[in-house]
Amino acid sequence: MPDRKPLHLMMFSIHGLLRGRRPELGRDPDTGGQILYVLELARVLGEQPEVASVDLITRLIEDPDVDDDYALPVEPLGPNVSIRRIRCGPRRYIRKELLWSHLDEFVDHVIDDLRSRGAVPDLVHGHYADAGYVAARVSSLLNLPMAFTGHSLGRVKLARLLEQGTPADRIEKKYHITRRIEAEETALDHAGVVVASTQQEVEEQYAEYENYHPRRMVVIPPGVDLESFTTRGIRRSPRSNPAFARVARFLRDPKKPMVLAISRADPRKNVLRLVEAYATNDELRERANLVLVLGNRKRIDDLDPGAAEVLTDVLKLIDEYDLYGKVAYPKSHEREDISRFYRLAAETRGVFVNPALTEPFGLTLLEAAASGVPVVGTADGGPRDILARCRNGTLVDPLSCEEIGSALLDAIKDRKQWLRWSRAGVRGSKRYSWSAHAERTVKTVRKLVGKAERDRRFFAVKGRLITFDRLVVADIDNTLIGDRRGLRELIKTLRDSDAEVAFAIATGRSIALTREVLNRWKIPTPQVLITSVGSAIRYGSKLVEDYGWERHIRYRWKPERLREAMKGLPGVELQGPEGQSRYKISYDVDPEKMPPLPEIRARLRRRRLQAKLIFSHNAYLDVLPIRASKGMAVRYFCLRWGIPIENCLVAGDSGNDEEMLTGKTLGVVVGNHDPDLEKLRGHSQVYFADGHNAWGILEGIEHYDFLGEIRVPAIDPRGVTEAIVPYGGVASETRIAVSASALPDPAKS
Ligand code: GLC
Ligand code: MG
Repeated sequence: MPDRKPLHLMMFSIHGLLRGRRPELGRDPDTGGQILYVLELARVLGEQPEVASVDLITRLIEDPDVDDDYALPVEPLGPNVSIRRIRCGPRRYIRKELLWSHLDEFVDHVIDDLRSRGAVPDLVHGHYADAGYVAARVSSLLNLPMAFTGHSLGRVKLARLLEQGTPADRIEKKYHITRRIEAEETALDHAGVVVASTQQEVEEQYAEYENYHPRRMVVIPPGVDLESFTTRGIRRSPRSNPAFARVARFLRDPKKPMVLAISRADPRKNVLRLVEAYATNDELRERANLVLVLGNRKRIDDLDPGAAEVLTDVLKLIDEYDLYGKVAYPKSHEREDISRFYRLAAETRGVFVNPALTEPFGLTLLEAAASGVPVVGTADGGPRDILARCRNGTLVDPLSCEEIGSALLDAIKDRKQWLRWSRAGVRGSKRYSWSAHAERTVKTVRKLVGKAERDRRFFAVKGRLITFDRLVVADIDNTLIGDRRGLRELIKTLRDSDAEVAFAIATGRSIALTREVLNRWKIPTPQVLITSVGSAIRYGSKLVEDYGWERHIRYRWKPERLREAMKGLPGVELQGPEGQSRYKISYDVDPEKMPPLPEIRARLRRRRLQAKLIFSHNAYLDVLPIRASKGMAVRYFCLRWGIPIENCLVAGDSGNDEEMLTGKTLGVVVGNHDPDLEKLRGHSQVYFADGHNAWGILEGIEHYDFLGEIRVPAIDPRGVTEAIVPYGGVASETRIAVSASALPDPAKS
């Protein structure tokens, strides 16, 4: 379509080991199907005529225990497709459950990267909860349309674990499941399109979410790699298949039909029941071999505990039922062997089985189908859809050994049926090509991009004279004020400094209440004034309001309906008129009587209302537009004026400061802080001062050498100060040497 502007797409897939060359699929639980999915998707999207470029953003990892490839900042995947790696948290490889507190930093790096390249994508697309959260933040800061693919969902996992009797606190500790679910809710809140693989995933999984919007859901099944999985090269004699040797060493008669299972050694994949089904069906045991391809291993004891248990139990069952010579369980294989195993199953007129307890998609079934192998699949979402289309096998109840056993036997016994299923599978699988997937994705995305109002104006105005390269942002109540001597000392320190530093205030107060307190405490007028918990920004000599920010945050803001929905909540009382403003509805709350925050959130979401809830001082509840907060306001301002976010020292004491304290800003929590900020301890760029009020800010300035070189003393996870990491270059690059005077009025910019 020549009249249409080609699309720049940005995909996020953060956890696991992601690389284009020989991806290490199955190496650990975070490096599996999703990695393959995003790689294929990125590549094939890049081939679409309407797509100009695809960036696949993941985490940069520097760890002697993993390959150097993961430390490359850019890895090309094709002429217009690349993986870009972004740092966050510790350098080493960590499992996805530990990434949560580092994601705000990831977001700030992404924004920095975009700014320095001057490249704004047309769409951000998050894959899985972590990347969904990141995409939501980027989308919200840059006013970009967003797509989300959950891959698997926290609420489903939580329900399953509870059902299995895992105690709630264990689940929380191991999986940080509340964080994950809230990240998914955030992603669903911001996404204009949510891509699911099956209809069942929509109806039974996404529908469980408070932010479930059926009209935003699209079902686009993933593609299968039809190049690798094919009937081409299938021989009469399996002996010439290179995978033959891998199984022949286990089997007395390797030419018998093969019952093939390929999966991770995960209890959910239900392999043990499969072994039992095979063992207890005499005819099946006579006619067929069982081949279990369960990932690679060196020593079973080195595997993660779940996998080790599965493998040990498999070995025990083989012994118990005396299945020697009948079951193969190759210890290792190469990626290329996978397609050979399927081919081997076809060559022996065998069957592929996926007996998983739940299967949202089941790519392996499609790989088998494309290779001409009939399938027996668990009666769940993915297999249901696939079998309905391909008609190449049977569905079974994964809990019934008998059913599994007889379905397998049936699949190999009837020659005519075998041929029919084999051909039907090959035909049906063609509908699941990656290019068909990409075409539909582009179509969907195109609609979304067309609808989005675009506004790139707040990327730094080039040539605009600003007079400072760093910014101190302080909250007022309990931070800036409270101790007159400390305040005087702070003002003096800033005034006397040679650094080109500007002073900003970020407060929950309204503009009127702010002016009053500034007078009362004799605080000089700041260069930047963020009021009403980040819902208004003013600067310039007359502190004129930035209406660009107002336009940006009014997105999805429905104050009347929100007020209505909040009415009648126990322990929650609307503040007087001084607490209200156009983009802020505030309540005084009684923490004893008020319902828990998640409940209030759910109540609003059920009414299709979107808002940010901010709880402070155990006494206030602010309802804001989803794009507003002190943290978002600081970032907007910095973006607009080209100030590196890592040159912002932000100081606060309570809940409404939290969003500005996390990420790449240099956070300072004053000694007299609210207990709810304790959760930020351990964040690498949040310094907990001993000093109270303004003394704490001064201590923070000292800690980061903020008026000098600016450095971040890195805190390693054990709490030992590790090394000094200077932010060389960043400050000087952006320094624009103009005498210190006020900023231009936003109205004139
Ligand atoms: C300030 C505001 C109040 C708000 C509170 C917490 O006290 O005046 O309206 O609820 O900060 O952000
Ligand atoms: Mg405060």
